[in-house]
Amino acid sequence: MSKNKIVIANWKMKLTLAESKKLAQDVKEKFTNFSEDEVVICPNFLSICEVNNIIQGSTIGLGAQDVFWEELGAYSGEVSASMLKEAGCKYVIIGHSERRKFLMENYEMIHKELKAVLAVENMVPIVCIGENWDERKTDRRDYVLFEQLQQALTGIEVKDNQEIIVAYEPIWAIGSGTAIEPAEADYAHKIIRLTLNDMFGEDVVENNFKIIYGGSINKDNVVGFNGLDNIDGLLVGVASLNPDEFLHVANKILKK
Ligand code: 13P
Repeated sequence: MSKNKIVIANWKMKLTLAESKKLAQDVKEKFTNFSEDEVVICPNFLSICEVNNIIQGSTIGLGAQDVFWEELGAYSGEVSASMLKEAGCKYVIIGHSERRKFLMENYEMIHKELKAVLAVENMVPIVCIGENWDERKTDRRDYVLFEQLQQALTGIEVKDNQEIIVAYEPIWAIGSGTAIEPAEADYAHKIIRLTLNDMFGEDVVENNFKIIYGGSINKDNVVGFNGLDNIDGLLVGVASLNPDEFLHVANKILKK
């Protein structure tokens, strides 16, 4: 795998099918200057196949916002990792804090989803972790990150060419309009990296993991997140819905 940086758009449940198709077309037209696996878009389930058709012939990668842990069966409403691959996805967001909050996703579910994604060749999980405001205010952030990583990743075997992305998304920064200070994000990423080093060894973390930041990144604050040692990319919400703003963000992180 490459250790290039990555910028991922999470469109959440913010666009209709028609709007997703339009945005995919805009992104395809504007993002002509990036390599494979540098820019990824994650539409809702309903839009994935259409968006996949639109971005054919571009270097834009495709991801889903969730996955179920079983492969096939009587699980109404759910979609498996191999089905996502068949629809064109390489990436899958797992354990987003919005799903933890609104769908009651818990540690066990997140761990099982991660295993399900890793079982499908060439798929890349994006595991979201992050503290809430109360935990941050009371200086429990480091412990929370440690705990979330342990719960999600303990017992996982990382194969030679397997890529795993950990997204640090402080819950209190998501959708707030204000990202955290880049230095604070860099520090949190260092805690994540050290924890992963303990779990998997430095070489595996260096070769197989990326640690990216998400939470109110926009065209005005992105510059502060460039060039930081511990930040391998970004997971962008609302700013990714405007193709020009998303292009600006991607350029700042991915171009020298
Ligand atoms: P915002 O960029 O809208 O804060 O969302 C971040 C996020 O949750 C990405 O997954």
